[in-house]
Amino acid sequence: MKSCCFTLMLSTWILSGLSAQESLPIIPFPQEVQRMEGAFILGAGTQIALAPGAESCTRVAEQLAELIFQQSGLQLLVESNVTTSYNTILFTIDTTISDKEAYQLDVRSTGIQIRSREPAGAFYALQTLRQLLPNAFFTRQANKSGLSWTIPATRIVDAPRFPYRGMHLDVGRHVYPVDFIKKYIDLLATYKINRFHWHLTEDQGWRIEIKQYPRLQEIAAYRRETLIGHMDATPRRYDGQRYGGFYTQDEIREIVRYAAERHVTIIPEIEMPGHALAALSAYPELACTAGPFEVAREWGVFEDVFCTKAASFEFLENVLSEVMDLFPGEYIHIGGDECPKTRWKACAHCQSVMASEGLRDEDELQSWFIRRIERFVNRKGRKIIGWDEILEGGLAPNAAVMSWRGVAGGIAAARQGHPVIMTPTSHCYFDYYQSQNPREPLAIGGYLPIEKVYAYDPIPEELSAEESRFILGAQGNVWTEYMPLAVQVEYMAFPRAIALAEVTWTPAAQKNYAQFLQRLHVHLSRFNESPLNYARSVYEIRAAVIKQDSGPALLTLASLRPEGIIRYTTDGLDPGTGSTIYRDPIPLREDMSIRAAVFDRFKAISRNFSMDYRHHLAVGGAIRLVPEPSKYYNLGGAAALINGVMGHARQFDDHEWLGWSGQDVDILITLDTVQLLSSLDLRFHYSPNQWIYLPKALELAVSTDGVKYRTLYTNRKLPAATAGRILEWPVRFKKQASARYIRLKVQRYGLIPAGNPGAGQEAWLFMDELQLR
Ligand code: ACM
Ligand code: ZN
Repeated sequence: MKSCCFTLMLSTWILSGLSAQESLPIIPFPQEVQRMEGAFILGAGTQIALAPGAESCTRVAEQLAELIFQQSGLQLLVESNVTTSYNTILFTIDTTISDKEAYQLDVRSTGIQIRSREPAGAFYALQTLRQLLPNAFFTRQANKSGLSWTIPATRIVDAPRFPYRGMHLDVGRHVYPVDFIKKYIDLLATYKINRFHWHLTEDQGWRIEIKQYPRLQEIAAYRRETLIGHMDATPRRYDGQRYGGFYTQDEIREIVRYAAERHVTIIPEIEMPGHALAALSAYPELACTAGPFEVAREWGVFEDVFCTKAASFEFLENVLSEVMDLFPGEYIHIGGDECPKTRWKACAHCQSVMASEGLRDEDELQSWFIRRIERFVNRKGRKIIGWDEILEGGLAPNAAVMSWRGVAGGIAAARQGHPVIMTPTSHCYFDYYQSQNPREPLAIGGYLPIEKVYAYDPIPEELSAEESRFILGAQGNVWTEYMPLAVQVEYMAFPRAIALAEVTWTPAAQKNYAQFLQRLHVHLSRFNESPLNYARSVYEIRAAVIKQDSGPALLTLASLRPEGIIRYTTDGLDPGTGSTIYRDPIPLREDMSIRAAVFDRFKAISRNFSMDYRHHLAVGGAIRLVPEPSKYYNLGGAAALINGVMGHARQFDDHEWLGWSGQDVDILITLDTVQLLSSLDLRFHYSPNQWIYLPKALELAVSTDGVKYRTLYTNRKLPAATAGRILEWPVRFKKQASARYIRLKVQRYGLIPAGNPGAGQEAWLFMDELQLR
């Protein structure tokens, strides 16, 4: 329902919260919203004012005036010591408000009042107020002066769910202009994200000027060349172009000031003891071996790390001293992730530290390393954050933990009473693919659609209410191996960061994905007026195969674009030619190459959707999996194995692949009636780099009554497969068999052999379509 009709129809004073979600495009959605009758008209006569005692909000009031001037040409004055809100946007300090980021925004036809305890709350009220302005306010018209703007009368009481609402950016793999860093901070602030985790050092480049160590600027900031394409591709090719750069201390001070004005705290990250190859290339004496080292030209984890000798601590403490002078925030991130212990195991010095400190293994040596750095940082009045590997070998006493390898690290740290920020790869890695469209630009892998981000709850079920208090919030991570350009960062971060903003700000009970999408649509259309290269994946056509009680399964197509119609073909031709308008679900009776797009009259306004449907006898049947797949790799549910749709090789966490770890799997397919069968085609993912292996053995049995089974096929040795590829394994029966029940036992690979990533851990098993013919 459109908001305009809604307002007219209602004779009551206050509209309900739900209708407010429909009609007010506020993201993140506030705690409490009441729509009132009427509207405030913002025009030339409006003033912006500070109530007595609200001088601390002067900068926020000026930011409001600047916004209105930039967007509309209206020049409003900021007055102080004003006591009336008549035709005024009045900022007032209210010390009864308990949260320093909370605010109350009261829009009446007579005036607007903003109450907060501190300027941060006023700043967030300003972000909400700006979102209440009409679409026309955001258009790029040359001269809009003389116009006035309508703001619907609304009463909002708002406060964040979590104190830590973060976004991260890796500038080690690729480095972006200062202006882009500011734009990124601006976007975060608009969505009430208050932490910017700036990942400043990497194997592939050191990006922060450190005055005491000029070789960091001369050598560590540049690499000889860069890998082309994906790191899994063979053979590896390089571009031959020197690449690099760094942020000067003046630039950093400017960015810190810029962020502070937008109530964003920057958390700088200096990686140690691993991801240190760039630093070691400049100062090889800090490594366990003699070197020489080279700034990395490709992605991954490297074995040369900081040695545990005194010189490393002297270097890192000097670096951290300069870092702490630049960044005033409470927390300094010291990395701690992905530090191979190979060099430490073979290093006489490292082994002597272990002996003299009574450390049992290299994990404890890493823990000793981090504790020593923590003591230094704590002495300077600051605290450390580390990735969840800092739990291994024992947590440093005052450290906060960023849980990235799932949520287990966060749970363990919270139970030990340490502050936790949730950034699990499953929901917070915005370097993963966001749609299944094969034209999605190259990404590291994985699949994280916006609906999965939105569904995230940073509080794990496993924690008690008391333990949950240690979860400070969540953060989206943008690792930039495959994002050489700032526009690519924008594409990967937005709009997923906007979904995460609602996850971290809005009360869980107020979250509503369908309504979020409606509000998001308003925001994205406003972005069409400003240069932001956001991903349009939310507008991709979504397909679903629906089983019916009788008759063929049906394919449904849906799109979010309210202005569009879907056109499709079933013969693989472009939907721009000779296509059918989608009105009803499409019956699935035979192989089809579906191509579809959303059209505004004759112009396609979405990317092409493509789906190759392969008809077989199990589509529309029933399927049972024992045990169920891992909850992290079960997006499509059991039905994904018999929906006629094949998962891609480059994503194994999409809607098609199902994954298990450490379990043999029993699959039972039940057809509607007894059928004559001649083959079963199987698909397995094989990607040892991602710990995914083929099964050890297969056994297939069939039955007509579900009681007496006949074994048709056993295999104890699957063929070799190519890493990163799918093994398609056809099983042809010697003789056709009558059956209604098909049982497939899949025996897992077991432990990953030595010398491979994940050695000693249980391998994963990933399966997709079971094509029965
Ligand atoms: C990480 O993604 N290595 C923290
Ligand atoms: Zn060493």
